[in-house]
Formats: sequence, structure tokens, C-alpha cells
Amino acid sequence: MISNLPISLFATLLVLSGVRAAQYPLTESHSGTTFFDGWRFPAETYDNTTNGDTFWATAQNTSLLYTNEAGRVVLKVDNTSFVPYNEKRYAPKLFSKNSYGPGTVFVMDAVHLPYGCSVWGAFWTQGANWPAGGEIDIFEGINQRKENMMALHTSGGTCTIDQNSQMTGRIDASDCDQSANSGSGCTVYDRNENSYGEAFSQAGGGIFVTEWTNEAIRIWFISRSNIPNSLSATAENFDTSVLGTPTAEYSSSTCSLESLFELALNIALCGDFAGLPALLEQTCPPLEGDKTCYTTYVIDDASATYANAYFELNYINVYTTNQTAGGDLPSASGIGKSTMTVTAGVSRTVSGGGSAATNGTNAGSGASSSGMRNGVEWGVMGLLGLGLGLVL
Ligand SMILES: *[C@@H]1O[C@H](CO)[C@@H](O)[C@H](O)[C@H]1NC(C)=O
Ligand SMILES: *[C@@H]1O[C@H](CO)[C@@H](O)[C@H](O)[C@H]1NC(C)=O
Ligand SMILES: *[C@@H]1O[C@H](CO)[C@@H](O)[C@H](O)[C@H]1NC(C)=O
Ligand SMILES: *[C@@H]1O[C@H](CO)[C@@H](O)[C@H](O)[C@H]1NC(C)=O
Ligand SMILES: *[C@@H]1O[C@H](CO)[C@@H](O)[C@H](O)[C@H]1NC(C)=O
Repeated sequence: MISNLPISLFATLLVLSGVRAAQYPLTESHSGTTFFDGWRFPAETYDNTTNGDTFWATAQNTSLLYTNEAGRVVLKVDNTSFVPYNEKRYAPKLFSKNSYGPGTVFVMDAVHLPYGCSVWGAFWTQGANWPAGGEIDIFEGINQRKENMMALHTSGGTCTIDQNSQMTGRIDASDCDQSANSGSGCTVYDRNENSYGEAFSQAGGGIFVTEWTNEAIRIWFISRSNIPNSLSATAENFDTSVLGTPTAEYSSSTCSLESLFELALNIALCGDFAGLPALLEQTCPPLEGDKTCYTTYVIDDASATYANAYFELNYINVYTTNQTAGGDLPSASGIGKSTMTVTAGVSRTVSGGGSAATNGTNAGSGASSSGMRNGVEWGVMGLLGLGLGLVL
């Protein structure tokens, strides 16, 4: 078995055969009942960044954050509570306890992604002092769209998509700077309708792979039936050279890709992207009269509205050759730090203490109406879009 070869020999063989050596050792695997050990809750108790209508779930919300009978991790929007007008609805937001530098591969294996009218789910990276430190949107989907949208958000300097980059996705905006394109970031849409929504689950889900090197950020979505046999959740190494042409590629030839990121997973409701009427009405019914996204969907009994507003994950793995990153971002609150230990030459995460977020009282009731406050500009800046703050 090739994976038993010493890595240096393997790399040599790859170089000799002219194939880009792209082996990354497994350093973290988050799944099952220990999944939550690797993540922290946000410091804020409600969505104070994208004008969405959510309180962020805490460790007490075991009906929203749990491991199911299949051993998969579920992060879901509350669809059992009656939410009175002017209150928000509980939904998940988690950050990785660790942070990462270039030389890293992130893999999320999911069987279900959150979708439905007013739903805005994302798996993304957050830089230090967000939004200045930048962002990679790996999975981002709103409402009843059919395709995943990927993006970088940068601030300062120039960062664009290199027109010579090879990718299978459709480039929608090539300037990554928040001041361009109404703040959409440099967006690339997957052409594969199995990449989001109901079709994603019907095809068994799949994996989102992000390879971040000093040369490029490459994102692949691979539907379940196309996942190469050589990739498994428990393999000690991940070889990106078997993946073929990426769905999206951001090259360092036209953008500096250096930053320090933590991972983020969340589901917002309405807000500056999913809740913009023009975007909402692309895939959901027109809003009636003076109703907003919030008054139409979030309040009252929304059990059916949010029946599909959940992530169901097999695992999130991290593979890295860059051991210099590790703990919280400089800007993070310090909740739930973790420590790294070294096992067989591979550092592995040992979950540290630190439990839940700050308490959700005084969370600023008065749900915002529909995130029009900052108009479209904030719209697609979406999940907080803005600055991959790439340090030059
Ligand atoms: C959101 O709330 C957190 C915690 O209070 C705070 O640190 C952060 O600055 C707030 N963000 C914004 C954009 O107001
Ligand atoms: C979530 O937890 C909060 C307390 O943190 C509680 O008020 C709320 O009812 C919980 N909701 C659900 C659906 O568990
Ligand atoms: C490792 O990550 C740090 C933090 O982002 C970065 O400064 C450094 O250049 C990275 N090392 C390599 C070899 O890419
Ligand atoms: C609430 O959501 C769950 C999935 O999390 C779903 O199985 C259930 O059917 C939903 N409830 C209703 C009434 O649609
Ligand atoms: C959060 O606040 C509520 C209401 O004040 C209280 O009952 C609960 O114990 C607090 N939870 C934590 C974790 O502090």
C-alpha cells in the first residue's frame, strides 16, 4: 500500500514522476460525540455581524447541537419553538478552537446542508480581527438555491481571480476586495446542482476540500459517488493530487494568500444576504404586502420552514504541514483554548477546557427586520465577508 511508504520516499517518487507532491498529514479529526470538543461558541449571543434574526445556540441547546443515532453531528436551527414577534430564533454558530496557516487542507464531509427560505448556511474561515483578517467561503448557500457559492473576501491590496486559473466553477465576480462588486467578494458558483440544497442530500452529500498553500487556495466539491477510494476519514495523509481540477481556484499570482484563519460553521436567518428581498425572491415566493423575511419566516411556528435548516456531518478533518499556527486567533476571546501534543510526528489536537459561550441574556431583543440596513453592499458580504486581509 502506497500510504505505507515513508513520506520522503513517496514525495520523491512523485517528483520523479512529474506529479505535484501534495501530501498533508492528518492533524485533527472532529466527528461523533467528541466533535464539539474542537469548537468554541462565539462571544456574541446573537447575530451582531450580518443582521440576521438569530440567537446563537449555546452548550445548553442540546436539541440543536448533538450527535445523532447514525453517529453524525447535527447542527440545526430551532424548529420546535414558537418565537414571538421581536424575538430571535436559536441557531448554531461555532468556531474552531485552533487556527491555521498556509500549508493546510480542510475537509468537511456532510450528508445534509442547511437550506430553505430565509436560511443562510456557511462553512468558512475567519481571519484575525474579523473582518480585517479576511475570509474564505468554502460552502455558502441561501434560501432554495441549487448551487454552492465560494468566495474570498479581502481588504486592502489587490486580489483578483487569475483568469488563467483552471477551475470547473463559474466565476461570478473576480475582484475579491470588499470595496468592489458591492462587497460580494470574488464569487465562484459550482455548476453541479448536487453541491447544495435537496439534491445535495439526495446524492448522499459529499466532501468540500480546501487546499491552502502559498501558491493557491483551491476548493473542490466532490459528490458522494465521485469521492476517490483513496480518500478516507481516517487515513493518515491526504493527497490533493488525486482530486483533479478544482471547483474554484484563487492563485497567489494575483492575490497574496497569507493569513491566519480559524474555521467557522453557522446558520443565519434572513440578514444581509438571505434576507435581501431581491435575493430571497429569486428562489422563494414574493414577500406579501409589508412583510419582511423576518415576519414571514422566523417568527411564530416555523417548524416546517426550518425542517431542512441543519448540517449533518460525518467529520471535519484538518491536514497540515504548517505547525506554527495552533491556538486561538489573536482576536479570539480566549474561550476554550486547546493544546497541541505531538504523537508520532503528527501533532494532534487535544481538546482543552472551556465550555460554552457567554450567557444569552440581554441578547438584544428586537429582532431586526430584514437586513436592508446596509443595502446590497452588505448583502453579499455575507457571512461577514470582507477581507482576507492578506498580509503582503
Ligand atoms: C459582537 O459582539 C461581540 C461580543 O460582545 C463583540 O466582541 C463584537 O465586537 C461585536 N461585533 C460587532 C460587529 O458589533
Ligand atoms: C436554547 O438555550 C436557551 C438558553 O441558552 C434557551 O432559552 C432556549 O429555550 C433553548 N432553545 C432550544 C430550542 O433548546
Ligand atoms: C505557517 O502559517 C503562518 C501563519 O499564517 C505563516 O506566517 C507561515 O508563513 C506559514 N508557513 C509556511 C511554511 O507557509
Ligand atoms: C423539524 O426539523 C426536523 C429536522 O431537524 C424534521 O425532521 C422535522 O420534520 C421538522 N418538523 C416539522 C414539523 O417539519
Ligand atoms: C444563563 O442565564 C440564565 C438566566 O439568567 C440562567 O438561568 C442560566 O443559568 C445562565 N446560564 C449560564 C451558563 O450562565
